[in-house]
Amino acid sequence: MSLTPPDNLGNPGTAPRKVTTRSLTQMKRRGERIAALTAYDYLMAVALDESGIDVILVGDSAAMVVQGRHTTVPVTLDQMLYHSQVVAKGVERALVVGDLPFMSYQVNSDDALRSAGRMVQEAMVEAVKMEGGAVIIPTVKRVVEVGIPVMGHLGLTPQSIHKFGTYKVRATEPEEAAELREDALRLQDAGAFAIVIEKVPAELAAEITESLEIPVIGIGAGGGCDGQILVSHDMLGLYTQFHPRFVRRYAELGTAMRGAFEAYVADVRDGDFPSADEAY
Ligand code: KIV
Repeated sequence: MSLTPPDNLGNPGTAPRKVTTRSLTQMKRRGERIAALTAYDYLMAVALDESGIDVILVGDSAAMVVQGRHTTVPVTLDQMLYHSQVVAKGVERALVVGDLPFMSYQVNSDDALRSAGRMVQEAMVEAVKMEGGAVIIPTVKRVVEVGIPVMGHLGLTPQSIHKFGTYKVRATEPEEAAELREDALRLQDAGAFAIVIEKVPAELAAEITESLEIPVIGIGAGGGCDGQILVSHDMLGLYTQFHPRFVRRYAELGTAMRGAFEAYVADVRDGDFPSADEAY
């Protein structure tokens, strides 16, 4: 992990260097892979930041993995502001990106500007993410123009699940693949600093990555992207309702948590907890 430069007295810097939208572009240029994960609360944000992660996304996946909803659609701007605030509080190094939820940016660009402004000003995120291609380009331009960095999101866009009716792989047909290429270029031209590409064929994602100057962060889009993102609750084995093949499980915390809860319940029932040492 790179450190800040020495101070004026020549003492070596100790604070880890802050990740910015600019440093992500530089990472792409140097061929360094970008590691990103989601967070929704303070403790997870601290653990992620200390792990050396580059980008923490406060994802609208909160609707599913925190609120137990079936899709990402119901989460509101106020709820995303709350999650983003508590995450940003725990982060010193990583770039914190706040997801703009469904209907907080689609109606018109005035609305989008207000929503993005609240995320930056009230929740202290450093960038916002929006789903979609051609239709949101004027909005992306306006938000970037006022100084708020925008991350795009193409391919499988979960906020449009009711339109598609399925979470299957996107852009497998030439027409949709061509549209995806176009949208990626449009987002770059509109000033987006990075694009998440979700669940599309690896070859197509690699081709788009190669064609863009801004970083492409893949999720279910193969190893040819500039970086990777997963939902933390999926890779930790906390959210087990779906297990798409692109999710590698790095832990089974759901099982560990259930085991700990069951042991506690048994200890309380048996009178084994608290012991004399755990009392005053
Ligand atoms: O909401 C989310 O967690 C996301 C990631 C899956 C990219 O958008």
